[in-house]
Amino acid sequence: MNPFEFYNPVRVIFEPGGVAKVGAVAEPYGKNVLLVSYGENTFLTDVLDKVTASLQEREIIVSPFFEISPNPTIEEVGRGVELCKKEKIDLVIGVGGGSVMDAAKAIAAGVYYEGDLWNMVASSHKAGSTVAFPSKALPTVMVPTMAATGSEMNCCAVLSNEATKEKSYVWDDCLFPQAAVVDSELTFSLPAYQTACGAADIFSHALEFYINGLEDTPVNYPIQEGLLRTVLLRAEEVLENPNSLQGRTDLQWASIVALCGISQPGNAWTPMHQVGHVLSARFGVAHGASLALVMPSWMRKMWPTRKERYLEFATRVMDVPMGGEESTILAGIDAFESFLNKIGIATRLDAFGIKEEDLDDVVADVRRISFNDDDMLPSHTPLTAETIREILT
Ligand code: NZQ
Ligand code: ZN
Repeated sequence: MNPFEFYNPVRVIFEPGGVAKVGAVAEPYGKNVLLVSYGENTFLTDVLDKVTASLQEREIIVSPFFEISPNPTIEEVGRGVELCKKEKIDLVIGVGGGSVMDAAKAIAAGVYYEGDLWNMVASSHKAGSTVAFPSKALPTVMVPTMAATGSEMNCCAVLSNEATKEKSYVWDDCLFPQAAVVDSELTFSLPAYQTACGAADIFSHALEFYINGLEDTPVNYPIQEGLLRTVLLRAEEVLENPNSLQGRTDLQWASIVALCGISQPGNAWTPMHQVGHVLSARFGVAHGASLALVMPSWMRKMWPTRKERYLEFATRVMDVPMGGEESTILAGIDAFESFLNKIGIATRLDAFGIKEEDLDDVVADVRRISFNDDDMLPSHTPLTAETIREILT
């Protein structure tokens, strides 16, 4: 094992019907709450009413801020920060998927952040820059309505800047939520496409670490395999039966475990996420769908660098019978791509109208936003701009 530091202070209340407990969970943090959710939130009206009622039962004053879009923008965060300051907010509660939870975290930190809020994100931290990550935030409580990002139990937020077409991360211990009320019944209403995008995201989180993470981590590999096999087992089940509580709870816990730090301590490489973020920022592709566009192609390019990992993926995750090395590995990747297509996720750029002539801009954005000082995308095997172009092609 490599050295690492693991820290995660989030209290998780994982319980179907648990949404009624939000008031009790929130009470210790103050009397003025900013309730953050999507702008178009008809599917959540009932949920937001329940959350509001459980807060009001405890005489907590609720300021609604229902203005968050998928792939939330720094401008939306700025408006939330202003409302927090105006209403003297004590606690920020996010009710929604990763976009809402990330925006809630950024709003909570933005209240204390001096200067341009975009400076909070990693892509602002170029060599020689004096900008800083946030170091203080209001407390937050998360109520996830999707199984996907695991944002409810991590200290990361992903934000977009429409002006610069950038999508980038902010992370700090101050962004850990105080608590997450995880009520999987809230995910019953998730449409098939968003369910599938969430499944692709969970799978990608575990897979990027499994095939591209640290060497020789026998404790982590079975955890990652369990996550991958859970997604394979449950994704189709909930697509057929959206109200399958067993399926929804398994996916939701898998999403949390995949990205709360426990499944990959000490590992920070997610190169396909960096490419996916550019596809989301430029073409509005949903996050999970953006990963599906690049993962199989990346794997077909990279397998010769990690043959053992790819063989284990094929045989232990995708249940491909062991045959010749190359044919087994490629059959595993094919099976993964078939799974994505079967749950309704495209794996080719033309499905989103992205053309050959767009690719130079995509590669240039990945390079500008995510390359290191060696002009490479950090990864187990660092990627050059040329390799990224080949993967996209
Ligand atoms: O379908 P629509 O009407 O658009 O409504 C919402 C939302 O727009 C829908 N939805 C959510 N919960 C629902 C529901 N519809 C019906 N019933 C429900 N219960 O789903 C749409 C997508 O929601 P969004 O919050 O964008 O999805 P997701 O959870 O996938 O979050 C994606 C964002 O999280 C970031 C992504 O980059 C992206 O910005 N990520 C955050 C991470 C983190 N904090 O650790 C890590 C991830 O890798 C990811 O980068
Ligand atoms: Zn992701």
